[in-house]
Amino acid sequence: MELTVFLFFALLIGLLLLLVRRHPKAHGRLPPGPRPLPLLGNLLQLERRGLLKSFLKFREKYGDVFTVHLGPRPVVMLCGVDAIREALVDQAEVFSGRGKIAIVDPVFQGYGVVFANGDRWKALRRFSLTTMRDFGMGKRSVEERIKEEAQCLVQELRKYKGALVDPTFFFHSITANIICSIVFGKRFEYQDKEFLKLLRLFYQSFSLVSSLFSQLFELFSDFLKYFPGAHRQIRKNLQEIGAFIGHSVEKHREALDPSSPQDLIDTYLLHMEKEKSNPHSEFNHQNLIFNTLSLFFAGTETTSTTLRYGFLLMLKYPHVAERVYKEIEQVIGPHRPPALDDRAKMPYTDAVIHEIQRIADLLPMGLPHIVTQHTSFRGYTIPKGTEVFPILSTALNDPHYFEKPDTFNPDHFLDTNGALKKNEAFIPFSLGKRICLGEGIARTELFLFFTTILQNFSVASPVAPEDIDLTPQENGVGKLPPAYQIRFLPR
Ligand code: HEM
Repeated sequence: MELTVFLFFALLIGLLLLLVRRHPKAHGRLPPGPRPLPLLGNLLQLERRGLLKSFLKFREKYGDVFTVHLGPRPVVMLCGVDAIREALVDQAEVFSGRGKIAIVDPVFQGYGVVFANGDRWKALRRFSLTTMRDFGMGKRSVEERIKEEAQCLVQELRKYKGALVDPTFFFHSITANIICSIVFGKRFEYQDKEFLKLLRLFYQSFSLVSSLFSQLFELFSDFLKYFPGAHRQIRKNLQEIGAFIGHSVEKHREALDPSSPQDLIDTYLLHMEKEKSNPHSEFNHQNLIFNTLSLFFAGTETTSTTLRYGFLLMLKYPHVAERVYKEIEQVIGPHRPPALDDRAKMPYTDAVIHEIQRIADLLPMGLPHIVTQHTSFRGYTIPKGTEVFPILSTALNDPHYFEKPDTFNPDHFLDTNGALKKNEAFIPFSLGKRICLGEGIARTELFLFFTTILQNFSVASPVAPEDIDLTPQENGVGKLPPAYQIRFLPR
């Protein structure tokens, strides 16, 4: 049989399979949107440049709240901070369900805090939040761990003596080490073989999750899952990381001292022990592995990629880097390591970090939500189980809130007296009950890593500032900056 005929039949069978599958039917009165075709949904109206670009185009026609059919299923899109707030904050409980990301769903299957729902999510969120907060009391605080990591990085970067480097690896290592320190109770040396392997697996997975294939997979996973593709690589990678975590859990179990839990895994194991007679307890092995994997998944690439954008912007706008350095000199001086308390006295630096996060626009389409019950929203009826995407990018680039949204300008976050100005459209961590669980940690990392690096190094690029291109490399679930090289020149 000719290949084209085979492919045609494969496609036909795939489509028929989709037809007989049951998808949540929209019985309500959903917001308007482009007219879908059976099975294909709005595929033919989508832009080749990806989902986000398509959604922005639909917004021009249908307004801030509209429905797009991703393949056979309807998804309600929320654009602009007002619509996002009305849903995620004003109707917090209803919009607190988590939707699936098709390309990672076969791995997580609803386990772990990021992808869990209902009582499982509540238990894991409460546990993760309190455990991370408790690291500030008695034990070495998360801030201490970040400060220590920042100094390790300075030592490491000094070894390169201003040679050109790709910063990706360093930013991965430091952000992954913070999660390692919280979860496993230890950091890894940057040359550690096992650590390097973990980093490679994560980085590759996040790039694949952000790729165009993954966006297509979001539409037709029921069909595409039978064919080779990025989904198989992601599954393999995450399973490998899961196995590493499993191995570490065993070691923790053997060494556990109930009177003095050292890290998140110890604390979880004690919870498991306490609830072992409760058959409905969510503190089981499966959730331990996937909750840990979730923290790595959510907490490593995000902060690391933001730092990568940040230093690219410092190369493009050297006068901004210089001004940050002046503020570091004034408030901290050249020797004392930066501390979180300094942030309140450094409005310019704080504004620069806000602006980096705004331009980085790291999760432009947020993470998918679902409504947990039938709900009325802006005169429409959204049936229980319908997916909702808060398009965070539309808030971060809203011209009503940011004078020149396309331009990197720290003044977006400064008032006329040079003090930090809050902006309610600044929602890179989203809003509501699912708001990023690591916001505090991420903001501490960004401030301490950014200032410690600039306190010790000036940065330079082989490319002239005006020729530095900020066009993202990938722009799907995650937005990734272009690859670049940088010199960290000791001061
Ligand atoms: C610059 C860095 C970061 C950004 C921009 C970011 C952004 C986000 C966003 C937009 C969400 C989805 C919220 C929603 O569903 O509406 C999220 C969820 C989450 N983030 Fe972050 N994040 C960052 C760093 C971190 C770090 C360092 C950690 C862990 C220590 C973390 C842990 C999580 C978790 C566990 C969730 C899922 C929360 C839930 O479903 O209840 N994130 N993050």
